[in-house]
Amino acid sequence: MSEISETQILDWHAKHAWQPFTQMKLAPNPEVITSAEGIYLKTQDGRKIIDGVGSWWVSIHGHNHPYIMEAIRKQTETLDQVMYAGFTHEPAARLSHRLAQSTGYALPRVFFSDNGACAVEIALKMAFQYFTNQGRPEKSRFVTLDRGYHGDTIGTMAAGARSAFHKVYEPLLFSVLTSPTPAPDPGAVDFVISDESVSQCVAALRSLFETRGHEICGLILEPLIQGADGMNMYPAEFLTEARKLCNTYDIFLIADEVFTGFGRTGTFYACEAAGIWPDIMPISKGLSAGAVALGATLASERVYEGFLSNERSHTLFHGHSMTGNPIGCAAANASMDLMNPECFDQISTLALAHVRNLSSLQASRSSVRRTRSLGSVAAFDLKSERAASPDFSQKFRERCVQKGLLVRPLGSVIYLCPPYVVSIQELDRIYDILNETIKEFE
Ligand SMILES: Cc1ncc(COP(=O)(O)O)c(C=O)c1O
Repeated sequence: MSEISETQILDWHAKHAWQPFTQMKLAPNPEVITSAEGIYLKTQDGRKIIDGVGSWWVSIHGHNHPYIMEAIRKQTETLDQVMYAGFTHEPAARLSHRLAQSTGYALPRVFFSDNGACAVEIALKMAFQYFTNQGRPEKSRFVTLDRGYHGDTIGTMAAGARSAFHKVYEPLLFSVLTSPTPAPDPGAVDFVISDESVSQCVAALRSLFETRGHEICGLILEPLIQGADGMNMYPAEFLTEARKLCNTYDIFLIADEVFTGFGRTGTFYACEAAGIWPDIMPISKGLSAGAVALGATLASERVYEGFLSNERSHTLFHGHSMTGNPIGCAAANASMDLMNPECFDQISTLALAHVRNLSSLQASRSSVRRTRSLGSVAAFDLKSERAASPDFSQKFRERCVQKGLLVRPLGSVIYLCPPYVVSIQELDRIYDILNETIKEFE
């Protein structure tokens, strides 16, 4: 293929593209990215941009990791795709086994899909249909936490908060019950999680389950970090208590580990920090390290067995054309190989470097508030008049990209979740760029 000029690419873009979460009328021309390596994205005109957010939280081992690329290349030599019904293949069988193993076989059943929202949709269908299959159709409602986010499809929007983004779709969404989240109120001055507020949230959940448990099939939550809510973190104790309550009231716990899985929060899965396993666990993003679109929904044997029947109507009626794609599974198997002790050492080092950098950033910039971090994720709020303006996120992002750093603030929350392979020097450089840019927005 002949090389195409940037002008041509932008012309095609202007005429034909429709991008996610983008008001196309107001959006400036995007950067044209031609290649990527490690933590760097490379533009057509040869500039390097540090990927401070792992390209929407997916790139955990760095871009174009040679080991993952080689696994993909190798897989393309033998089998690109075959329908995953009536057939199986080594990459999917191996990956199912390894994923089951990664949960200590607490969740030994794996249902493949292509992205995080689909993985969550499947989780919702599993929880709902399980009880119908058991002759208990009244257990059909979901509980979600305040300001939770689970994706942008109709079902996942319904299961999440009615945010400003999703409000327009309200008439399409099924109703859910909402319980208070232990993640601090984004409007608060300081980022403080008190034992008392966690207890209050547990009490509210208990009270909801007590009165309506008979009609609830599942509690869905983002474990430890409510990502889209502004990297809003809460302690593991809430998860432990939620697990106990779900057991008491026979409600499935759905832990949406789409963002938090694969080392993001310091353990392989965030739920491990609470010493619990959910009944159903959607995963994606880090699953294939951002190399190929892939999702999966892990389920306990109890959930799985609830679908085994001579009644065909008890089948889980869900599937996608590309379910269990061999190339995606090969990428995920390679990524799993890289989740070794060295990788977890990198995450620990990164976690400490975040703490150090956040503290000096807060000391030098009075507009930096509510600093917080967990594992590879760090976040803070910017409190200034300019940070409160509706175009802040876009303007701040543009300035950082000009300086060689990709960030994408959530409102006035600036966060980082770089690939784990970022070095301490590179992370220091990231914080230097943030510091310089914040000065312009104070
Ligand atoms: C917790 C959580 N669940 C689900 C999703 C949806 O994943 P996807 O964007 O792959 O559909 C996201 C995406 O950010 C997420 O953070």
